[in-house]
Amino acid sequence: MSHARHDTKCTLHKSSLDYVRPDLRSGALIRMSLTQGYRCYTYLLLSMCYTPYRQPCSDSADNSRFHDIIMLANLRCSIGDTRLFRGLYRFIYTRNSDINQFVMDNTEIVSDNTLTPEIRLSLFTPKCRFWHARPDTWPFSDPYWAIYWPGGQALSRYLLDNPGVSRGKKVLDLGSGCGASAIAAKMCSASHVVANDIDSVAAVAIQLNCELNNLEPIPCVTDNLIGSEPEHWDLILLGDMFYDEDLADSLHTWLKTCIRVHNTKVYIGDPGRAQFENHRIKSFVKLLAQYTLPESVREENYGLTSSTVWLYTPDV
Ligand SMILES: C[S@@+](CC[C@H](N)C(=O)[O-])C[C@H]1O[C@@H](n2cnc3c(N)ncnc32)[C@H](O)[C@@H]1O
Repeated sequence: MSHARHDTKCTLHKSSLDYVRPDLRSGALIRMSLTQGYRCYTYLLLSMCYTPYRQPCSDSADNSRFHDIIMLANLRCSIGDTRLFRGLYRFIYTRNSDINQFVMDNTEIVSDNTLTPEIRLSLFTPKCRFWHARPDTWPFSDPYWAIYWPGGQALSRYLLDNPGVSRGKKVLDLGSGCGASAIAAKMCSASHVVANDIDSVAAVAIQLNCELNNLEPIPCVTDNLIGSEPEHWDLILLGDMFYDEDLADSLHTWLKTCIRVHNTKVYIGDPGRAQFENHRIKSFVKLLAQYTLPESVREENYGLTSSTVWLYTPDV
């Protein structure tokens, strides 16, 4: 999947730059080009040219980035193709340092009001710009990494309360999101922790969250590992990964292989979602712990009041 994205970027890059004269590749001409008619398109092409020279981290850069998002959202409305919009946006903000800055600009550092106040995370809160914005103005794929899901909260709490579970172990946090469970395992002295999330923005957010907790960066793999030849993991962690039936089916099959081949232990955190409760996987789990969710988490996750940690023990 990452290859396909890369090809799209290259094609856009080449064809777009072919239409821009080299002497136009300067930020100074941008404002002059913002006239009616071709405004968005011209802006977009020129953004592509001058972005590499822009200085990150200052207030003006921040405003400029926000301005870019709005302009691109307008463009997206006029061309009506979300995929193209997101592809173009990603093309402009390809560098991890840009995405890092974007994550910092659009999240708030949170530690209170979760089950694991000892872990600090950059998350969406009502104070953040995109909390109230139209979903289609968000330039990346759905920001699951910007939420600390109730299943992940219970799993991370369980790891912190039972440090022997991950101490000295090789741990994979699959569907890591904000990285909290990987961080909890690392805090409990796991020998090797890898985070896995198919969203490349999550990988950037996880590094940022490691820094917030004074941890060395946790390697993050963005390939889809489900169905692949299983590596030797002592533990696989799954925080709130049972929100889709097809995903639950493929996890059930793949996890059984991991357990059969490497005797991996699989820990699941789930707040009682129907896709988990009604799945046949539920017949193969053993209750380890249950936590009442903090009030603010209950409010944000209507209908959920507690979250449970399970050990997956299928017949293999
Ligand atoms: C509901 S969130 C849970 C995040 C985190 N574990 C937590 O509890 O806070 C699910 C996450 O799984 C990721 N995801 C979905 N399908 C995946 C796959 N096949 N492999 C790895 N990650 C996946 C999503 O990008 C998202 O970040």
